[in-house]
Amino acid sequence: MKIAVVGTGYVGLVTGTCLAETGNTVTCVDIDEKKVAKLEGGKITIYEPGLEKLFDRNLKEDRLLFTTNLAEGIKDAEIIFLALPTPPGEDGSADLKYVLGVAHDIGKLLTDYKVIVDKSTVPVGTAEKVHAAVAANYKGEFDVVSNPEFLREGVAVEDFMKPDRVVIGTTSERAKKVLTELYAPYVRQGNPIIFMDERSAELTKYAANSFLATKISFMNEIAQLCERLGADVDMVRRGIGSDERIGKRFLFPGIGYGGSCFPKDVQALVHSSGQADYDFQILNAVMEVNERQKRHLVTKVEQYFDGSLQGRRFAVWGLAFKPNTDDIREAPALEIIESLLERGATISAFDPEAINNVRSVLGDKIRYAETQYEALEGADALIIATEWNEFRTPDFDKIIASLKEPVIFDGRNLFEVQQMFEKGFHYESIGRPLIQLPKIA
Ligand SMILES: NC(=O)c1ccc[n+]([C@@H]2O[C@H](COP(=O)([O-])OP(=O)(O)OC[C@H]3O[C@@H](n4cnc5c(N)ncnc54)[C@H](O)[C@@H]3O)[C@@H](O)[C@H]2O)c1
Repeated sequence: MKIAVVGTGYVGLVTGTCLAETGNTVTCVDIDEKKVAKLEGGKITIYEPGLEKLFDRNLKEDRLLFTTNLAEGIKDAEIIFLALPTPPGEDGSADLKYVLGVAHDIGKLLTDYKVIVDKSTVPVGTAEKVHAAVAANYKGEFDVVSNPEFLREGVAVEDFMKPDRVVIGTTSERAKKVLTELYAPYVRQGNPIIFMDERSAELTKYAANSFLATKISFMNEIAQLCERLGADVDMVRRGIGSDERIGKRFLFPGIGYGGSCFPKDVQALVHSSGQADYDFQILNAVMEVNERQKRHLVTKVEQYFDGSLQGRRFAVWGLAFKPNTDDIREAPALEIIESLLERGATISAFDPEAINNVRSVLGDKIRYAETQYEALEGADALIIATEWNEFRTPDFDKIIASLKEPVIFDGRNLFEVQQMFEKGFHYESIGRPLIQLPKIA
């Protein structure tokens, strides 16, 4: 099939590349000229495991094309995907200006039937708005479908190629047929394509992200209780996770959720609820808990250093909002760094993939290390903010030799508490017992 994908960011580039991988010809459209030039020149613009290989192959085989010209991009396409940003507006609602702007432009360009598929995360009722925006300029036949994207950054290629489920919101039989054919190669193992109406599909995406965010905030509250009551959150997590109704995944406490989706989507659902005269109480608490949790690690650091961080130097391992991505949008690590800087500390940071993105935000406010060990040199303590695999079994002797004091604040619970005590570390993690060493002056 011939496909256009409008918006070539994390979702658009993965979608376009993975659709090309099964033999479709995909033209990705983006207004960012630099990005398009880079992609056309064979340089990938995001880090996502496994993506580069597919990108190279499909680019070489002319199944993956890039343009800044919307008219050219959609001319021959049977399906037009919208993978455009929906950032939070000032009131927390999802800003639809990109989606509706492009829909309006598409309306001016259509000459025959096409299926316009919304992959952006958008509030209930957006498919109708997109339909109206296109119809304002095009009187022929077309369909607008809601097809929310559930891929997880870090495993996006795998998620796209073998999705748990594909949700398609449409009442049009014609659109259903086109999309069933398109997705057939991705659901060969029997995972379902779930058809529903547009509004339910739009709400499904918000419900999924909000539920996952709720799980995280819930576990962060349990972790807070563990710290106060002398329980171990790892044990509690295992104890409850083996109940199938609860499930093992997404029960890890930490330094709060971040990323480009959870914070904005929870906020947007609260806003939509308010507009529908409904007070979504749980989600208000989820957001509050998350804000508190993001400050938790800095509070621990401050308490350890007797309330003053002036002149202290910290090594930070991990900047991306989660491992296996270079995405730093709403990354808790950045909030931790900003709060340490405000308290007069200096930072030396390392991340395997996100340094360039962080440099464009923080500039020379912090130092960037080439390796995880270089970041440690002369630091008062190590702070772990992202659970990259390479941090899981580090050379502890090297850490001890490089730090001024063997002190680690671990926001991701990477190491065993007892083992760290035996190695001579003052080791603080989230929701687990603190074995006190005699304090270093
Ligand atoms: N990132 C994720 O993990 C994820 C997962 C599921 C759903 N989503 C949703 O998908 C949507 C896109 O997210 P993303 O992370 O890919 O965003 P992104 O910011 O990485 O990418 C958006 C792209 O759209 C381009 N763009 C903006 N205006 C344009 C226009 N008028 N014409 C063409 N291109 C334009 C931007 O230049 C950018 O490259 C959002 O609604 C998001 O909530 C994201």
